[in-house]
Amino acid sequence: MKINENFLNLKDSYLFATVGKKTTAFKNAHPDKDVIRLSIGDVTLPLAPIVIDAMHAAVEELAHRESFKGYGPDQYCYGYEKLIESIKGSYSRKGVELKSSEVFISDGAKSDLGNILDLFSSDNTVLIPDPVYPAYLDVNVMAGRKVIFADATAANGFLPMPDENVHADIIYLCSPNNPTGAVYTREQLKQWVDYANRRDALILFDAAYEYFVNDSHLCRSIFEVEGARTCAVEICSYSKTAGFTGVRCGYTVVPEELMRGGTSLNRLWARRQSTKFNGVSYVTQMGAAAVFTEEGEKQIRENLGYYRKNAEMISACLDELGIWYTGGKNSPYIWMQCPDGMDSWEFFDYLLENANVVGTPGSGFGRNGEGFFRLTAFGSEENTREACRRIKQLLKK
Ligand code: MLT
Repeated sequence: MKINENFLNLKDSYLFATVGKKTTAFKNAHPDKDVIRLSIGDVTLPLAPIVIDAMHAAVEELAHRESFKGYGPDQYCYGYEKLIESIKGSYSRKGVELKSSEVFISDGAKSDLGNILDLFSSDNTVLIPDPVYPAYLDVNVMAGRKVIFADATAANGFLPMPDENVHADIIYLCSPNNPTGAVYTREQLKQWVDYANRRDALILFDAAYEYFVNDSHLCRSIFEVEGARTCAVEICSYSKTAGFTGVRCGYTVVPEELMRGGTSLNRLWARRQSTKFNGVSYVTQMGAAAVFTEEGEKQIRENLGYYRKNAEMISACLDELGIWYTGGKNSPYIWMQCPDGMDSWEFFDYLLENANVVGTPGSGFGRNGEGFFRLTAFGSEENTREACRRIKQLLKK
């Protein structure tokens, strides 16, 4: 038998696994140190009370023969109508109308970002911004696809734009961006949409951080842009919006008009999902369905406000130190320049050893991330305050 040799082209371990391993090694060597993790974007606040109530009620339903549920409804690939309706409601408030058949429930954005590639030939060329969420690159390397990069640098505000001289079939965009926190304007997204429609390319739009967008003139969904329904799939998650990193739930929108190779991608995705996926648990779906209710939105916005304050705290700390950074405004990530010309991993070690604070090296997100460093606002307020105090003490001149 032969293995998929493309796996041999991957780096030894996934970025956050490497960060985790280094952190654990440091903790084992220094058990007395209080290490603060502001690295992986993992939430720390508990689920909103309305979500907990909905999950409890769902568990109770499963406890009785009359209300018990087995597999989810196959009409929408095991997504419950209640959840799909609430997602449609959230889109409707952004001015985007969706059909139920266009919303697919998943166990999170990361799975769908990789799984959707089942639909496309491995001959396609993939365009990935650099730096960006590392899973986009790894899932394509695993499939042996040709990957090219769109440079995101301080010069273009970390928001690369389409290049007419470059041919791409699949384009990954993430806005608000992980890791840089940069957010495309409507006009910029329109240029990407026009480019993709002209070239018969497909945009995979990762909107996992859309609930962090504060400025009303910025888009929260690619479908707010005219023309996107014929060239884009949007992938979204409850992880950062509602603290579901451990619960696992997301959704992917595949418009019915979206055709490639003369075939409906909506139909192909439905076929793929009904074959390879048996849906998300009933309890999880009912918890998620509570998120976009009126009360649910109020409660999750309180949690998002808490993380936003952490982002402000980190930004103020860097302002005081005179360190250049982006993000932190419409995003839970702060993307800072490493001080004193250190490279990303050098600064990672320096900060871990001297302030016992863990962040994510920018170079792990791509070549253009070298010399940068990402801090997350998803920690607790106390830890964020303490981390800022230590960073200030360490880096003040
Ligand atoms: C991150 O830290 O970039 C994210 O938490 C990773 C993820 O969402 O999988």
